[in-house]
Order: sequence, then C-alpha cells, then structure tokens
Amino acid sequence: MKKPNINLWLGKTHMDTFFESSTLVVDLSNRVKRNKWLFKDKYQTISEYFKKSDISNWWNPEEGKGDVGQGLFANIQKEKRKMIQNWMKDKKFKKILEVGPGTGRFTDFLSVNFKDITCVEINDKFYKKLKQKNYSNVLLVHDDITQIQFKKDMFDCVILVDVIMHISNIPELFKNIKCWLKENGFLIVDFTPLKWYEYYNKIGTVHRGIDKKEFEVMLKHYQFEITQMFEQKNKDNIVQYLIYMLNNKLD
Ligand SMILES: C[S@@+](CC[C@H](N)C(=O)[O-])C[C@H]1O[C@@H](n2cnc3c(N)ncnc32)[C@H](O)[C@@H]1O
Repeated sequence: MKKPNINLWLGKTHMDTFFESSTLVVDLSNRVKRNKWLFKDKYQTISEYFKKSDISNWWNPEEGKGDVGQGLFANIQKEKRKMIQNWMKDKKFKKILEVGPGTGRFTDFLSVNFKDITCVEINDKFYKKLKQKNYSNVLLVHDDITQIQFKKDMFDCVILVDVIMHISNIPELFKNIKCWLKENGFLIVDFTPLKWYEYYNKIGTVHRGIDKKEFEVMLKHYQFEITQMFEQKNKDNIVQYLIYMLNNKLD
C-alpha cells in the first residue's frame, strides 16, 4: 500500500482551516467568542468539548429535543437515517465499527441487524446512556477515536454519521480507518458541505463545513472508491448533507 502523504492536505487551500489541528485551535478560539453558550471558555480543544459537555442540548434526535430533535433538522436526520439503513440492511457485514454513536439511533439498528459491533463514543453522558441500553452484541468503548488504535483489517464496515465535522485531524483518521478496514470493506461517511458551514456556525454547534471536491481528492488519496453517494433530496433546506458509501480498495 502506498504511504499516505498527509502533507498533501497542508497546502494553500482553505482545507487548512479544517484539516490541520494547530490551525483548528485558532479556529476554535474564534468560535468561543461567537458561541458563548457552547464553550463558555471551558474547553481548549474540540475533543475536550465533546468529552465533557452536555451536547444533548443540541443533539438529541431520539427524544425529539434540541436542534436535531424537531422540525427541519429532525426531518433531515430521518431522511438520512432511512437512506443509510436501506443501503445497509441486506449487507453481510461481520464486524462493524461505529464512531460517535451519540444516543445510539444507528446502534439500535446495527445491533438488531448485525452480530458484532464496536462503538467508540467520547462523550461522558452519551456513553452512560448507551451503557444503559444493555446491547448484547455491542462493545462500547468510552474514548476519543483520534487517540485509540485497532488491529489491522479488523472491520468490514466503519460508519461515521454526523461525526467527521467534529474531528480535529481528518486525514489522520482516514489513514487509521484505511488500516482497520479489510480489503473491500466499506466506509460510510456523511458531512455537511462547506457552503452550509456559515449556518452551522450561527447556530453554534462546532461543525466545520467540508469541501466536497477536496474531500473526494482525499478519498482517492486513501484509495477509497465511491460506490454510492446520496444527496439530500429536499434542496430547500438551509442545511444539506452528502452521504458516501465507500469501498476500501487496495492497490
Ligand atoms: C452529531 S453527534 C452524531 C451521533 C450519531 N452518529 C447519530 O447520527 O445520531 C456526534 C457524535 O460524535 C461524538 N464524537 C465527537 N468527537 C468524537 C471523537 N473524537 N471520538 C469519538 N466520538 C466523538 C460525539 O460525542 C457525538 O456523540
């Protein structure tokens, strides 16, 4: 396998802001000023914020609370969930890694349809909540995905829904996922493209928009083949998303 060249992402493009962790700290401090209710000068890094804060203030799709629980966001989330679950339901994945399961809305589906699931959740409250669900076939790991390692070729599917915008070093995570995924395994990933970033900024979540073109260059770089891509159907909504189903190819 070719050695990934992370420097590719530290060039002159605007992706610097999103993909390089040192720049991210600067970016974060701007957000502290703008989004006082979120950070309250308490957190130094995105990981610390996600570990300790009560993010169910804005993320609680299951209980119909917070930004994503009601109205516009709830509909977007439902549509997204349906598309992903429809795509997954007849697949024969043996071992799945779910990153950032949150309140477990996908974990519920995964635990019913697949045998062996590992979830990595950084948030203290969400982790407790997931524990209480007593899944019999889900290994719950309470940690930061950027700080842990799994064995090579361990999973045949990795899923991140509404997560990569919160990760400080995306190329590093992709490099790791590439290693954890078996040949021809699948990566399911979604994000909100750059053009809706400003809106997220206003509502105060720590999302960072991602540029579609550059994201796809990165996928190529890590040798993922896009097998299917879903775009949100209703284009009237301010916040849009893209879902990628990616096949892990080896050279
Ligand atoms: C917007 S929520 C999405 C939850 C879930 N995937 C869903 O679609 O309902 C983002 C989740 O990612 C988790 N997260 C953020 N950064 C993380 C990290 N570095 N490692 C593990 N989980 C992380 C958050 O705690 C939160 O549960």
